[in-house]
Amino acid sequence: MSGRCCSLPGDPQPPTAVGRVLDRLETLFSIGGGPANRPGLSPAEQRAHDLAAGWMAEAGLEVAVDAAGNLVGRARGRSPELPEVWTGSHLDTVPNGGRFDGALGVVGGLEAVTAAHLRPRARTIAVVAFRDEEGWRFGQGYFGSRALCGRLRPGELDVCDASGTSIRRALASLGLPPPGLRLVGSGTQPLPGAFIELHIEQGTSLADRGLALGVVGEVVAMAGLTIRFSGERAHAGGTAMAQRRDALVAAARFVLGAHSLARSDAGWRATTGELTVHSPAGNVIADNVTVGVDARARSDESLGRLVSGLREVADASAGQGGCTWEASLAWQEPAARMSPPVSRALAAAAGQPAAGSIGATSWAGHDAAILAAAGIPAGMLFVRAGRAGVSHSPYETADAKDISVAIKTLGRALTELADGGWAEIGV
Ligand code: GLV
Ligand code: MN
Ligand code: MN
Repeated sequence: MSGRCCSLPGDPQPPTAVGRVLDRLETLFSIGGGPANRPGLSPAEQRAHDLAAGWMAEAGLEVAVDAAGNLVGRARGRSPELPEVWTGSHLDTVPNGGRFDGALGVVGGLEAVTAAHLRPRARTIAVVAFRDEEGWRFGQGYFGSRALCGRLRPGELDVCDASGTSIRRALASLGLPPPGLRLVGSGTQPLPGAFIELHIEQGTSLADRGLALGVVGEVVAMAGLTIRFSGERAHAGGTAMAQRRDALVAAARFVLGAHSLARSDAGWRATTGELTVHSPAGNVIADNVTVGVDARARSDESLGRLVSGLREVADASAGQGGCTWEASLAWQEPAARMSPPVSRALAAAAGQPAAGSIGATSWAGHDAAILAAAGIPAGMLFVRAGRAGVSHSPYETADAKDISVAIKTLGRALTELADGGWAEIGV
């Protein structure tokens, strides 16, 4: 008898969807030597996009790059003129980032689209990799999704990173926009009719409840402030302690005050993750210090109160040491509600009677929130995070079984929205 029915130990196994996803996440993690370090609009982000474009083409999708450099892989439906159903996320990372934040939504989304493509359906489904979601390089995130939705600010392309490279130059060095496309304000292509983002939770609410998956109801309101403390540059030895106007001491008081303020309300979070001492020297009293503050709250109104409170803390911190301060709002995103019909489709695909039974709130910002704010029915599927929910860290992790269930759930929801389930969305 020739051939054999079963594989033997040592035979190469065809990779499963989740095996492929984990391999690809590892490949992306190792760009630049790992841990993940793929700033928005950098060669490292571009390398990730190039790899993903290859994977999309290998899966038989039609691959396109839009004016902002977003990568889209389409599986055409029977009626390509109808609004499309998209999934996806981003491939850039924070410095020293992890394997899953963003990348899981792209490579997992690709598997779900590939699986959904096997079923006949009316609408085109697609997987997208948005550009520069994290935003730390140029000061404001969601570059690709804001461009898609026509929300680039006038003059935004002239904003520079810390080394003086503008967004325009960073794009040009990556060959963007592609020939023949224009990025002025953007919003020049048809928007998807619905969007689902698959993402690691980056917190513990699912793990605490013993849930593998969650359906996000809302993304909290958030804002970035830059606070500059000004004092007097003076000699470390010659200046008596009582005579100093030390901007770094004012900033230090502010950091502690902001932390205490946010702890006073369970619906607030404030983080001072970036502190810059200008012209620093060990024997010079600092006269110019900036602190980047990330503020988040459950509602826009609550965020307004948190930001006012932070300004009061800055005022008190500066005044106590004879310093002055000024604050500027670097960016702000309102709280975003996910679409109830999309959330219901996700819950049904997860075998749940209602989205609320596996409901979750996102304290992290996502491209899905930008699309939702632009009026696109959007939903989010969270996968339980391991290791106490740690994220924005190379120690971020998620269980392969949870990822496998998530991909199947996403594929079912996409299929539903791309065919019968569309009626409920009513677009
Ligand atoms: C995105 O990662 C965020 O900072 O919420
Ligand atoms: Mn992130
Ligand atoms: Mn993310």
